[in-house]
Amino acid sequence: MNAPVDLERIQTGDELERCPFPIPYGWFGVQYSHELEVGQVKMDTFFGKEWVLFRGEDGSVGITDPYCPHLGAHLGHGGIVEGNNIRCTFHHWQFNSEGWCKEVPYGKVMPGICKKKPVLKTLPVVEKYGVIFAWYHPEDAEPMWDLPIVPEFEDPDNHVDVRYHSWDIGTCIQEIAENSVDTPHLKFLHGAPIIPPVEFEADGPISKYNIMDGYIWGIGHGPGISETRHNKGDVAMLMFALSTPVHAELTRTRMAFTWKKYPEGSEDAKTAEHLYNHSIGEAEGEDSAGFESVDLIVWDNKKYRPNPLLCDGDGPIMKFREYFKQFYVESAE
Ligand code: FES
Ligand SMILES: [Fe+2]
Repeated sequence: MNAPVDLERIQTGDELERCPFPIPYGWFGVQYSHELEVGQVKMDTFFGKEWVLFRGEDGSVGITDPYCPHLGAHLGHGGIVEGNNIRCTFHHWQFNSEGWCKEVPYGKVMPGICKKKPVLKTLPVVEKYGVIFAWYHPEDAEPMWDLPIVPEFEDPDNHVDVRYHSWDIGTCIQEIAENSVDTPHLKFLHGAPIIPPVEFEADGPISKYNIMDGYIWGIGHGPGISETRHNKGDVAMLMFALSTPVHAELTRTRMAFTWKKYPEGSEDAKTAEHLYNHSIGEAEGEDSAGFESVDLIVWDNKKYRPNPLLCDGDGPIMKFREYFKQFYVESAE
């Protein structure tokens, strides 16, 4: 049921906020694997704060709080990788990717706590499918669900090389993801010939949506990961979309695309390539526009209406919001 609209008092834009939500919890793709080389230390901002990332010689990835537990030097400025650890530049203490102190080069005895638990805050990390995933929870709760198993990525030999993209979007994930059930905008903003029907269902952290009887089939794995297939006849093109909050009003959305190696030059190969080009807004002679050419105009400038004025032709907006609410630790409203 939609929330009742108080017609006596429609909120003006002055009262509305752009993104009145905390950072949601879940798994997020914080980097493509190729963005972090063996032995590299880098800094990046996501989940509303700065992190230091490093890759050890065995390929393992650490994502840590920037400030050394010893005397607070910034590990991203002058820190280097030693074996599989990050070494602070100030007094050369070393920490592994799980935050355990592994070396104090001049102390006779390590502080007792170093033997009992990690002393540097790190995030749970899993790397697969060419992506470094981190689990974020504002109260450091352990991961509550698994990363998806994606058939196309499990069988890379029979799929075309993955195409990697990334966009910065000036709003929060909830506002971006709400688009998946907002079917009228597909006609009016994107120029689709009709308003396609949509079905949306949710089960715990997993959501599923089906636009136009399977033309677009999406599975959301929490707020940060969605596995969407665009289908035409027997052809399916995978769009693996990873949205990561940089801060409350900025999202970095990475999208990785692949599809089956259809015979070269075949109609199916052309269809798959077209579905891909359409998704990134580069298909030629198209009536309907890909997301980055039109959605960004809206996302970068809109405000969030907690009690929107909906009509009977709108998609299941409130059902979607009910689903998404579970990923916030503090109540948003
Ligand atoms: S501040 Fe990092 S080793 Fe001393
Ligand atoms: Fe859109």
